[in-house]
Amino acid sequence: MSPEEFREHAHRTVDWMADYLATVGELPVLTRVKPGDLTRKVPSSGPERGEPMDAILTDFERLIPPAITHWNHPRFLAYFAITGSPPGILGEMLAATLNVNGMLWKSSPAVTELEAVTLSWLRQWIGLPEEFFGVIYDTASISTMHAIAAARHMAQPESRTAGLRANLTVYCSEQAHSSIDKAVLTLGMGLDNLRKIPSDSRFSMDPAALERAIGDDKAAGLQPCCAVATVGTTALAAIDPLPAIADIAERHGLWLHIDAAYGGTAAISESHQNVLDGAGRAHSLVINPHKWMLTPVDLSAFYTRRPDTLRAAFSLIPEYLRTEDEPGVVNLMDYGVQLGRRFRALKLWFVMRYYGREGLAAIIERHCRDAAEFASWIEADPRFEVSAPVLFSLVCFRHRAGDAANRRILDGINASGLAFLSHTVLDGQLVLRAAIGNAATTIEDLRRVWDKIRELA
Ligand SMILES: Cc1ncc(COP(=O)(O)O)c(C=O)c1O
Repeated sequence: MSPEEFREHAHRTVDWMADYLATVGELPVLTRVKPGDLTRKVPSSGPERGEPMDAILTDFERLIPPAITHWNHPRFLAYFAITGSPPGILGEMLAATLNVNGMLWKSSPAVTELEAVTLSWLRQWIGLPEEFFGVIYDTASISTMHAIAAARHMAQPESRTAGLRANLTVYCSEQAHSSIDKAVLTLGMGLDNLRKIPSDSRFSMDPAALERAIGDDKAAGLQPCCAVATVGTTALAAIDPLPAIADIAERHGLWLHIDAAYGGTAAISESHQNVLDGAGRAHSLVINPHKWMLTPVDLSAFYTRRPDTLRAAFSLIPEYLRTEDEPGVVNLMDYGVQLGRRFRALKLWFVMRYYGREGLAAIIERHCRDAAEFASWIEADPRFEVSAPVLFSLVCFRHRAGDAANRRILDGINASGLAFLSHTVLDGQLVLRAAIGNAATTIEDLRRVWDKIRELA
């Protein structure tokens, strides 16, 4: 493709992008396609001969949007809602254009250095101490896997060569994300060695139960190695008590990892500045700018106070990657499983500069205020109840008539195309979740959703 042809197709593409962002709110949020619909519309083998870009873009416009569930829609309220913001999208476009691989400092210094710069800015915004070293991975799941791998290395450094010699145990609340289970099984520690600690009436980990579980495991000859605390749990956005968990982790010599994938972003705002109080005592923390910080998927920021341990767990330098000419530089390939890495920091840099801390804080605070207002509408209707404290921008609620009624409301609103909500199960009962996290969501959007829910009720 010649540069002139590229320019022409890029302009058409950007026009489509701008129109999409302007009108996505008019589309049904949840796709209406059935499994296999898209597959049936495209050839079963790839083309022998190249096709014109115009035909490819026309097919994109015709086939792809109907099979999209629109995460960038203002009434996408499922899971944790997100925003692919315009500055972040521009950063992605440029990163694809440069197409560099940041495995070593030398393989593209800007990847390593902008990653350090943006993560240092973010570290300051969320109030983590300077000693925390940051690295970008794709997802929180992978960040947490690296945290638990570093914990494994701290507990049994010889496991790097000899494999695990004794059972290492890991602790998290029963509300914690399944990525902890996946890390434990990936790292060969065994799901039987993951303890799910009960939570209290506010769905926070019970520290006394954690202490007991560690004591029981030690008495049984096991080696407790890592505790994971969550700030903003997946189902209900609860917060584990960081200072109490940090005390226990320190007393027993455990690696403390904090999963702040969703909730950590709130620490940017004045209203939630204290949600990470005590996090400075952790060995590591993950926060996902691709969740609530307007950064297009994917970008997960991982911080550790023990980069030496992470490096000792993973550094392995084959001869062809040996660089002795830049002493002291960080080579990101030493801090994890992957060798190659995308230039993810570019989009984060764009987002942080475009909105500034104040701009991001204002959006986070508006989301939290709107969530509180949405919860107040629910509380004012005797048919409904709010199921968990609203600590951030997630509202969990249910119709009092039981699971069948809630299922019908959920299916009804999602089928209507107006909004997309997800659910969880709490104490055996179905609970609906409205997660506010898209920058374009307004209180009027939420009012329309609530009116629809009441109509269905
Ligand atoms: C608390 C928490 N941790 C981890 C994750 C996993 O995030 P990712 O998709 O980036 O792996 C999620 C996903 O929603 C989450 O809510």
